[in-house]
Amino acid sequence: MNRVVDQVDDGAGVDDTDPQTYSGVRLGPLQPGERVTLTDPKGRRHSILLAPGTQFHTAKGAIQHDDLLGGPEGVVVTSTGGVQYLALRPLMSDFAVAMPRGAAVIYPKDAAQIVMGADIFPGARVIEAGVGSGALTCALLRAIGPSGRLVSYERREDFAEIAKRNVENFLGRPHPGWEVRVGDLVQTLDSEPVDRVVLDMLAPWECVDAVAEVLQPGGVLCCYVATTTQLSRTVETLRAHEGFTEPEATESMVRSWHAEGLAVRPRHAMVGHTGFLITTRRLAPGVSAPHRKRRPAPGAYGEDYTGPRR
Ligand SMILES: C[S@@+](CC[C@H](N)C(=O)[O-])C[C@H]1O[C@@H](n2cnc3c(N)ncnc32)[C@H](O)[C@@H]1O
Repeated sequence: MNRVVDQVDDGAGVDDTDPQTYSGVRLGPLQPGERVTLTDPKGRRHSILLAPGTQFHTAKGAIQHDDLLGGPEGVVVTSTGGVQYLALRPLMSDFAVAMPRGAAVIYPKDAAQIVMGADIFPGARVIEAGVGSGALTCALLRAIGPSGRLVSYERREDFAEIAKRNVENFLGRPHPGWEVRVGDLVQTLDSEPVDRVVLDMLAPWECVDAVAEVLQPGGVLCCYVATTTQLSRTVETLRAHEGFTEPEATESMVRSWHAEGLAVRPRHAMVGHTGFLITTRRLAPGVSAPHRKRRPAPGAYGEDYTGPRR
């Protein structure tokens, strides 16, 4: 394993080889500079950055930061107006949905599926494009740990800057194995071999040839797309390439439940649609995917079909 060098002058005996150091998780007593979420009795949330001698002002009076500093999270503090607030550090999922955005972010339910579907592992060499606001990046960096390497490509410099800020805020320090490259993936991809590739962009099919050059045999490619037309074009391009296994397309729906006494039922509101995942694995050089035995559905590739063909 590579020895990782501490890149920030945090002084406090940080162990750079400890996976927790680059996980975005903080434990122990609350410290100045840490973010805490205060939740009121109606479920409204306020995010505060802890600073000694500072107050957070609500419509129902002030809360002293000093009441929280040095103590545990999971405590209840009372404003001068008598309202109680529950104080907890945000989880990665809280951070991802609340962080400043350039592009739309991948939601936690999909990020979780990507980490599993793309089989992201500690020490993995991963490519991601585009980086957008950096929400998925946080999940990927946590999964690869300090010995992994993630190169994130982003066409837009302004989005790359937002992502860098978000990710550093989340981790609390720069990750030694993370690099952001501003540019189009196809035009700027170098020949470094990688184990996993995750694409979240409008036209992932345009990147299939380039990605196939660097993805190692058995390596996983995972594409996240928002529409069925993107899904179809991506799947057909992967098939036509022949250097990948039969692509699998999925979507995940998460339904929250209301559970109270005898009233146990799905919640009325849910996030109806986010996107689809397409996963496939790279074959060895020169090997072509076996032709499927099963015939395509009647009309699937009829005269109206104009997409890529094998
Ligand atoms: C939906 S956003 C990615 C969001 C990101 N996954 C997140 O969770 O915050 C898509 C991004 O891909 C970038 N993009 C699109 N095509 C690209 C390409 N070929 N190379 C690099 N970046 C690309 C866009 O500029 C955009 O910022």
